[in-house]
Amino acid sequence: MIRAAFPALFEYTSPVWAAPMAGGPTTPALVVAAARAGHMAQLAAGYKTSQAMNDEIAAVRAAGVDLFGVNLFVPNTHVISPGAHADYARALGIDDAGDPREDDDAWNEKIAALVADPVPLVSFTFGLPRGEDIAALRDAGSLTAQTVTSLDEERAAVDAGVDILVVQGAAAGGHSGVWTAGALPAERPLAGLVAEIAAETGVPIVAAGGISSSAEVAELLGSGTDAVAVGTALLRAAESGTSSTHRAALEDPRFDETVLTRAFTGRYARALRNAFVDAHDADAPSGYPAIHHLTRPLRAAAAAEGDAEHLHLWAGRGWRASREAPVAEILAALVP
Ligand SMILES: Cc1cc2nc3c(=O)[nH]c(=O)nc-3n(C[C@H](O)[C@H](O)[C@H](O)COP(=O)(O)O)c2cc1C
Repeated sequence: MIRAAFPALFEYTSPVWAAPMAGGPTTPALVVAAARAGHMAQLAAGYKTSQAMNDEIAAVRAAGVDLFGVNLFVPNTHVISPGAHADYARALGIDDAGDPREDDDAWNEKIAALVADPVPLVSFTFGLPRGEDIAALRDAGSLTAQTVTSLDEERAAVDAGVDILVVQGAAAGGHSGVWTAGALPAERPLAGLVAEIAAETGVPIVAAGGISSSAEVAELLGSGTDAVAVGTALLRAAESGTSSTHRAALEDPRFDETVLTRAFTGRYARALRNAFVDAHDADAPSGYPAIHHLTRPLRAAAAAEGDAEHLHLWAGRGWRASREAPVAEILAALVP
């Protein structure tokens, strides 16, 4: 397969990118530090209001950084019935759960804001946006990137005309970008998935999931990948907004395994196995974002108490290699 040139925009950036991490870890300071050190980074707009996204974009620009991206959660409701929602609420000890709460993460407002005031790159996870939204962003001058976890998703993303594929393997920390409700990402080495996708499309590829050494980066760059993105490696970075409880758990020998679980949000995500996972993983239904909203007060209470056993401790399989250091130092060490 003839490969398209990686967009010229990234000619002077490192092949090691900072992956977007919503829920706190990705801060404007992290994006600025990565960009100043020559690495592409993206703000994580997921869970945020459109105004909060705009404020973060302004903060990055105010620091003199122009080359960065913004990551969005594509609305792709994994529907849950009121009965299954009520059953899980009872198992969690919640009496007054109410009806399942769905939302679209302010998708239309965010697209409108990004079209009105474009950034160099807009990336999508959880699903494929409507063609008209991809076209509007491209017409506004942005490159688009789509997270895919399988050949089927890759084919649909290429057909939709995205500029870059972010190929995410099952070792990745946090939510899997898998589109289908209830589906797990395939258990296979990232290099194999990338090679298979690279064999059938020339669209540039950024590989992500479980990367924790420059040797792994070298292997991926040699197998059809144009760049890699790391998330978990940056969770303990000085500029990241990861909570102190989450940071401590990442180096606590008590936590010795990661699992893909939907216990916290109703959508599979890789986390350190803790008491909440042990108690609820087996019964957790598919249901996103309803289960995210349902468990949120419990997780907020755990966070306030510094209780790592009942918090969503997102982590990829390479979490043991994460360390406390400036973002620039962590990313530089990953460049082959
Ligand atoms: C705490 C955390 C939050 C994440 N949030 C997002 C997100 O908002 N959007 C997204 O596309 N991916 C998100 N991811 C996935 C990362 O972008 C990336 O695919 C993953 O971190 C790569 O695997 P690694 O963690 O093993 O490096 C998140 C990952 C983590 C660990």
